[in-house]
Amino acid sequence: MTSVTPPRTAAEECARAALAEHGSERGPLLPVLHAVQEKLGCIPRDVIPVIADGLNLSIAEVHGVVTFYKDFRSTPPGRTTVRICRAEACQARGANALVEHAKRQLGVEFGETTPDGAVTLDEVFCLGNCALGPAVQVGERLHGRVSPPRFDALLGELR
Ligand code: FES
Repeated sequence: MTSVTPPRTAAEECARAALAEHGSERGPLLPVLHAVQEKLGCIPRDVIPVIADGLNLSIAEVHGVVTFYKDFRSTPPGRTTVRICRAEACQARGANALVEHAKRQLGVEFGETTPDGAVTLDEVFCLGNCALGPAVQVGERLHGRVSPPRFDALLGELR
């Protein structure tokens, strides 16, 4: 009887390439994960066992790191990522109300993507725009004094 090896997915190939590049570094797990996320936009579930095996770690250890660091995503981000600053200076200028408004308008929580794949909502702690809070980053662009109506206008520009 011959055994048939299942074909590797593109995600597995990506993980193997990241392991080949960073696997022998000191503390290789984070560089490997960053390389995979840079290439795929997220850390898909099916690469976790590949990475664990390649680094001689348990699946639980790799999964624990992926879920601990907010930078790592398990699903690809939307076409645009909207980040709302939740640090103190922006909170003092109404960021909490803006956060509630944004979640309601988009129908998602932080870290989630709208069903149409257009927008991922994320939180951030200081965008360096503290005097002009609440600060919001839409894609690469930074916006200050973002009120709920202004937030809606920014969303309107995305759609
Ligand atoms: S506290 Fe929001 S930009 Fe610094």
